[in-house]
Amino acid sequence: MADASTLLIIKPDAVRRGLVGEVLRRVEAKGLRIAAMRMTTIDRDLAERHYEEHREKPFFEDLVAFITSGPVVVARLEGERAVEVLRTMMGPTDPATAPPGTIRGDFGLRITENLVHGSDSPASAERELALFFG
Ligand code: RTP
Ligand code: MG
Repeated sequence: MADASTLLIIKPDAVRRGLVGEVLRRVEAKGLRIAAMRMTTIDRDLAERHYEEHREKPFFEDLVAFITSGPVVVARLEGERAVEVLRTMMGPTDPATAPPGTIRGDFGLRITENLVHGSDSPASAERELALFFG
């Protein structure tokens, strides 16, 4: 099967806490390839476009404020079933109940500060990678 691509964002909480290396270590140890990567600060316009599916949700303002609150690391990851593999490694959205062994389960407590983003489908990956990597 041809390799797939997905977007990883190491969110501002993880960068602030010095967990960039830990997240990348796990990604590489799993066998996903870092095909492109940079540190950046997401502005409001990009945050709104990235999270456009959530525009009407009650948590949208908090989400945009958080994701723009400091530097993030964005990466294009490649590998077989990369979208699904990264989502499994991240764990469910709420770190409080995410299983140990997942990134969110091992390092987080609060739903907003859940450390990482990963595209949730191949179609989302294509859309999001275009936003961040052109
Ligand atoms: P992400 O897009 O960041 O990878 O997270 P996800 O797919 O696991 O979760 P999603 O449903 O796409 O939600 C996007 C982000 O919104 C925040 N959220 N807050 N307060 C709430 O009930 C709530 N629900 C979601 C989370 O920070 C989540 O990462
Ligand atoms: Mg999502």
